[in-house]
Amino acid sequence: MSHASISNSLAIVHPISLSHGRNAEVWDSTGKRYIDFVGGIGVLNLGHCHPRIVEAVREQAGRLTHSAFNAVPHEGYVQLMEALARFVPVSYPLSGMLTNSGAEAAENALKSVRAATGRSAVIAFDGGFHGRTLATLNLNGKVAPYKQKVGTLPGPVYHLPYPSADNGVSREQALAAMERLFSVEIDQAEVACFIVEPIQGEGGFQALDAAFAQDLRQFCDRHGIVLIIDEVQSGFGRSGQRFAFSRLGIEPDLLLLGKSIAGGLPLGAVVGRRELMDALPRGGLGGTYSGNPLACAAALASLTEMSDANLATWGELQAGTIEARYQRWQGEPWAPLLGRLTGVGAMRGIELRSADGGPGSERLAALLGSAREQGLLLMPSGKARHIIRLLAPLTCERERLEEGFDILERCLAGLA
Ligand SMILES: Cc1ncc(COP(=O)(O)O)c(C=O)c1O
Repeated sequence: MSHASISNSLAIVHPISLSHGRNAEVWDSTGKRYIDFVGGIGVLNLGHCHPRIVEAVREQAGRLTHSAFNAVPHEGYVQLMEALARFVPVSYPLSGMLTNSGAEAAENALKSVRAATGRSAVIAFDGGFHGRTLATLNLNGKVAPYKQKVGTLPGPVYHLPYPSADNGVSREQALAAMERLFSVEIDQAEVACFIVEPIQGEGGFQALDAAFAQDLRQFCDRHGIVLIIDEVQSGFGRSGQRFAFSRLGIEPDLLLLGKSIAGGLPLGAVVGRRELMDALPRGGLGGTYSGNPLACAAALASLTEMSDANLATWGELQAGTIEARYQRWQGEPWAPLLGRLTGVGAMRGIELRSADGGPGSERLAALLGSAREQGLLLMPSGKARHIIRLLAPLTCERERLEEGFDILERCLAGLA
């Protein structure tokens, strides 16, 4: 898909143009209907045009559409930060700031951590994704296309293997790589922070090994290193809980938020320990639009919907449906094209294999097209783009979910 007025450096997964949506359904400008398992890449945990969010934005638009918080504060920002302090399950009082995006949250976390520790090195993970700004690019554990042609990136940044039952990398392998890193590459006393996704999104919906996460927490505590957990994609119920770090038995020092925080309005946040968030001089954090009143109103409405009971019910329905289908498919003649079912809760990926057992990147490319033709929108992930990432709204009705999986099943059978 190419438009004279739009940069060709944007890669479009689905060459259609949407007109409107409702929960897990969208319609394009020709009137064709699709079941949406992309959900704005994890933004729409509450679906398209959730009535409570639409109403909150409408009401807010009639009162105050904008105030730059660091010039003239407004109620919505304060209310949202207070709501987040209650919603994020950590044992310390939460402090932070709002941003426009996930990458901006990561950028501001890096700045705060540098100021607080006086150190600048960052340890990130293979397959991780943290954004497309200059500093976050270097954190990503994948070169093409993100780090190509952009020259020298801000550093120093080092990467470790990401241990997960979903990719076959063990806790011991990751610990050995860590030992090597600190004996060959850099003194741990120069490391400002680790940044890690508890479940990798772009990397293929791989869940971090919990024992390794606890090793990491202890290592950070011993060496005065900040642990940043990036829940931009895994947060707000996708894992079946408010946040995926809860399943690891650890707490972050800083937590990055975005995507489903505000039901489709652009918003992110970096929250965590007050002493880290206060480390920069006054004026060191801020932004014209960050924490815009419309986005804050949408986020407050979203949080109200995300009760633990709702999240558990939605997570169980999605996880149950996905697991049941995947199990049933094992008996199909085309089962050999399926690899692992990755992830946890409603954050699940299905690996595709090629005929010779390698990553099924070409099969997934074909599947995206055939599913779209039959009315299902899917998203790829993984280094080789061979893992289907399932991001249906958590509020997706059972019938829509089954309808989507019926289409997926037909298309998988058609690939064999
Ligand atoms: C884990 C994670 N962190 C950060 C980002 C960057 O967020 P944004 O695209 O809002 O800048 C993403 C986006 O996909 C993400 O998945």
